Amino acid sequence: MEKSIKLAVTGKGGAGKTTVASLLCKAFSDKGYSVLAVDADPDANLASALGFPEDIKITPLVEMKELIEERTGAKPGSIGSFFKLNPKVDDLPEKLWKEKDGIKLLLMGTVKQGGGGCICPESTMLKNMIQNLLLFRKEAVIMDMEAGIEHLGRATAQAVERLIVVVEPGKRSIETALKIKELADDIKLTKISLVANKVRNEHDRCFFEDNTRGMDVIGYLPFEDSIRKADMERCSPWTFSPGSLEAVRKMVEKLIQD
Ligand SMILES: Nc1ncnc2c1ncn2[C@@H]1O[C@H](COP(=O)(O)OP(=O)(O)OP(=O)(O)O)[C@@H](O)[C@H]1O
Ligand SMILES: [Mg+2]
Repeated sequence: MEKSIKLAVTGKGGAGKTTVASLLCKAFSDKGYSVLAVDADPDANLASALGFPEDIKITPLVEMKELIEERTGAKPGSIGSFFKLNPKVDDLPEKLWKEKDGIKLLLMGTVKQGGGGCICPESTMLKNMIQNLLLFRKEAVIMDMEAGIEHLGRATAQAVERLIVVVEPGKRSIETALKIKELADDIKLTKISLVANKVRNEHDRCFFEDNTRGMDVIGYLPFEDSIRKADMERCSPWTFSPGSLEAVRKMVEKLIQD
């Protein structure tokens, strides 16, 4: 049974989140899924990893004040309003996304956080948009998150059913993964899988085996100069590194069976 899936790719800065998110989009798309790629990093660069042209113009969701008003019945800036949305992927207004090779890309934009306790309508809108997005068979929503753990305290991370945490050989990215796991537990998000990235040799692999403390590792991605080269040339990783896509395809098989 090929079910729909909503996941967020998270992890320490530079670990390879955008690379892995783009490969997941491609792997799901090649499997016949309709893919909605969501760039939730304010410093957005998923478009380049997906091979969209440099001059692509997508209006970030948070800038769509009219849409926020229309879908929420609230003026942005008002506090404590009741938000109700349940769009289908196909209902999303066309100016929100651009499509390339069957992958739709949507940008979240930057949410300016209010003070403690303030319910930010834009942030809640983003969460509701993703959380209430009705998915049908063979649809995948893949969010590329900003680095670190801060977004877990925000609404957006609560909208998905699974976190993919990208780690690289080094204690610091593992520590970030452990913090992410702790925070995810708090919001009852229990499906967490690691992608062990930038594996250069057996020693790196053993490092992950020793340090991931019983967490679910869904796959290993080798360190490849071709992946860096793709970034340097502003191409998708799979254009130069078909092997990385093969590795991610195997992860996708596990994800859809879980
Ligand atoms: N397996 C790999 N082999 C070689 N280089 C890699 C690999 N994975 C990622 N990189 C390179 O590491 C750099 C950072 O990758 P990427 O942008 O995907 O990380 P990120 O976690 O999204 O970063 P940020 O925290 O800035 O959003 C890029 O230059 C990318 O090409
Ligand atoms: Mg990134």
